[in-house]
Formats: sequence, structure tokens, C-alpha cells
Amino acid sequence: MAAASSKAESRLMAKATYRLTDPETEVYIGDCREVLDGLPEKSVDLIFADPPFNWDVPYGEWDDSRSREEYLTFTQQWLDACLRVLNGHGSLWVNIPDDTAAEIVVHLKRRGMTMINWCIWHFRFGQHRVGNFIVSKVHALYFARNRETRIWNPDTVLEPSDRAAIYDDPRTRETKQPGLRVPLDVWYGPLWGRIQGNNRERRKNHQNQIPEVYLERVIRACSNDGHLVLDPFLGSGTTCTVARALRRRSIGIEYSGQNAASAWERIQSGPIRLGPGVPETNSFMAHRKRGGNGTHPSSTGPALFGDSDSAPAESDPKP
Ligand SMILES: C[S@@+](CC[C@H](N)C(=O)[O-])C[C@H]1O[C@@H](n2cnc3c(N)ncnc32)[C@H](O)[C@@H]1O
Repeated sequence: MAAASSKAESRLMAKATYRLTDPETEVYIGDCREVLDGLPEKSVDLIFADPPFNWDVPYGEWDDSRSREEYLTFTQQWLDACLRVLNGHGSLWVNIPDDTAAEIVVHLKRRGMTMINWCIWHFRFGQHRVGNFIVSKVHALYFARNRETRIWNPDTVLEPSDRAAIYDDPRTRETKQPGLRVPLDVWYGPLWGRIQGNNRERRKNHQNQIPEVYLERVIRACSNDGHLVLDPFLGSGTTCTVARALRRRSIGIEYSGQNAASAWERIQSGPIRLGPGVPETNSFMAHRKRGGNGTHPSSTGPALFGDSDSAPAESDPKP
């Protein structure tokens, strides 16, 4: 009974600390489990979550070195709180390393969610180690409430196909979008590296920042103009910054007041990378005839794997 009334109270209490209109953008400071409980049920179209990994990262107020049991309980609680606010055509993305990917997949399947893709974000600057292979990926888990009715806009995120960019296959010129394809489920390339060192996107004092292109792909593909996008672990503000630029409404939740203030500054100044343009191919192969690096015919570009304007940071605890 006491638990029920405190839930009801938090439902009345959720109040944004920062707010902008056109499109509506709100940032809440607090524990996402409590803030989510204060938001209306089934009100959100898309959720992107990049939680703390429990790798003892100094996030300011949040303790990122809990017992395994406590961390798994926390994980299930925030997942359930997200599911409560996700609507019937909604999608949920989770950015998570090897440690907890399996537990999250099992939990979401048990809750009736449908896995649409198990994507990989691949980067080249993993933390140096000798005891095992260097980590060069994070899982990007893509779940939906309903495979058939989910929002899915593949035409907004196309990339050059290897058939067109590498093999000059003439059949690729006769398609609806010549030379382009829906992206593969392994994500890498120019601009897809970790946001480190002197990367132009880098925000000071943020331990883990996701590239803008990653959020751009997720938001374009899985929401429409005016839809509501939510990030329960806002960090440096990548999700709301990109969502706002793409004319989506958004809600960001962040435990640290300092991080939230910095994210808010970023949301108001807007993204660095976003803009039209034909993307580079990210093929591993050289062009079959020209021997080049396989860039799209209409563009010249940087190295294939990104990180090109970022330097490795040796002491970074989390890729
Ligand atoms: C991995 S970072 C997110 C980085 C973000 N994707 C970006 O691009 O900047 C996780 C963030 O979640 C915040 N956080 C940790 N626990 C939280 C909680 N229970 N509720 C809300 N935010 C939390 C941390 O302070 C940290 O800023």
C-alpha cells in the first residue's frame, strides 16, 4: 500500500528542469526510474537508452560500481519503467556492452517485446589490454512493441551499397534509390568512432558520448516529425540535441545536475554533424577497378573506420 501511494506521488511530481518549445524539448534531473514513473503511460514513440555499464566510471553523483545483483535489479527496473511509457507503435533501443546484453535481451523478450535487430556499433579505438582481445564494439539492441505497426522509415537512412560503390553493378542503377541500400546491422565508418580527444563533437567532462550519426540513424529510422523521443540516461545530451534538430519532441533524463546543465547548453546550440549529403561507403573492399578506398562516386572522403578526427584516450574506462 505504501509502495503504491509513493508511486502515485511520483506520478504527480515529475517536473522538467529545462524546457524549450517548437519542438517541445524537456530535460528532467533525477533517477530515471522515478522520473519515468511520473510520465503518462504509453506517451512515448521512441526510447534510446545508453545506461551506465557499472564499469566504475566517474559520472559525478551516480555510483557506477554496484554489486552485480544490484546492477541487474536496477537494469530490470529502468527497462520496465521505459516499457510503461512506450506506446503501441514504439521502439526501444539499448546501447550495452557484452557484459549485460544477454540479460537485457532475455528480459525484454519475457516482457513481450519483439527483437527487430541486434546491431553492433564497431569502433577502432578500444581500451588497450593484453589479457584478452581488445573490445571494439557495443551492442545496439533494437526492440519494438509490434513488428508490423512499428514506425520504420528505411528510406531516410540509406547508405551506398557495396554493389554500387565497389562493383559497379549496373542493376543498382535501376532501383528506386540508385546505388543505395538499407544500412547493415554492423555500424562503423567515418564519423562513427568513439567521441574522444580532439573529435569536434567532444563535450568536456562527459565520460561517454555517442556519435551524432548513431542517434541520427536511430531517430530518423524509428520516428516521424513531431513524435516524442525519450532518453533515460541523457549524459552529454546527444539524443535530445539530434532529436530537436530533426523536429522531434524529446525528453531527456539525467541523474547529475551538472551533466544535465551541460546537455542543455548543447541542446540549445544544436548538433555539429547533422546535415544533408551522400554518405561515404563503409565497405572494407577497395573499388574493384579503380583500386581506391571505395568512396561513393559523388564524394571523396576520410578513412573508412572513423575515429579519424579523434585521438585515443588511454585511460578511458568505457569505449
Ligand atoms: C553512458 S552515459 C550516457 C551518454 C549519452 N548517451 C551521450 O551520448 O552523452 C550514462 C549517463 O546516465 C547518467 N545516469 C546514471 N544513472 C542514472 C539514473 N538512474 N537515472 C538517470 N541518469 C542516470 C549518468 O550520470 C551518465 O551521464
